[in-house]
Amino acid sequence: MLKPALLAPSLLAGQHTRLAESAGLVAASGAPWLHLDIMDGHFVPNLTFGPQMVGELRGEVPGLFFDVHLMLSEPQRYADAFIKSGAQLVSFHIEPELDHRGLLTHLRAQGCKNGLVLNPGTPAEAVEPFLAEVDLILVMTVQPGFGGQTFRRDMLEKLTRIDTWRSERGLDFRLEVDGGVDLQTGRECRAAGADTFVAGTAFFKAPDRAAFAREVAAW
Ligand code: DX5
Ligand code: ZN
Repeated sequence: MLKPALLAPSLLAGQHTRLAESAGLVAASGAPWLHLDIMDGHFVPNLTFGPQMVGELRGEVPGLFFDVHLMLSEPQRYADAFIKSGAQLVSFHIEPELDHRGLLTHLRAQGCKNGLVLNPGTPAEAVEPFLAEVDLILVMTVQPGFGGQTFRRDMLEKLTRIDTWRSERGLDFRLEVDGGVDLQTGRECRAAGADTFVAGTAFFKAPDRAAFAREVAAW
């Protein structure tokens, strides 16, 4: 069954000295989720913000669902801090060596939704054994680390592959896409099976953010 389309604007594209205002723009647009990109300068060659920032933002926009995307080599060391800060979903990458199953289970046991993320170079098969244990799979359509990159159309096939497994097995996780998503590329992802859409640059640059959010909600 087709899930309703959800927009998750990425705060990475907001103004970092005024993140509370940027989060307020997301809330005012009517978008239901806020995507928070956490980078460690190790798994990806960039740095963003940590649990304190997430916790303070939590109080500014209480109505938004906090979708926290950990781009960390050791997500298991920081997951609890983000849960305490108000993360409602924590996703982490399949690429680093760690006990992925253990962390997925731990997140749910803490009352937090869990998600697994794949880089563009990682095949769908890498997450296939975990599909019955996740709330969300996130397919990166750019190499993570920076906003404003070009959408990789060759990832559409990966979305379709994961969506097909989901329906064949009667599973219920969300299928999210992140990187270069705008109203055109997002629609292509929707046709390929995605239901949750991260948009950074396209959302913040949109002349009418509420119209952007309404359009995605209608997909
Ligand atoms: C990239 C991040 C994305 C980023 C997307 O590493 O995971 O969430 O904010 O930005 P855009 O939409 O500009 O590609
Ligand atoms: Zn992200």
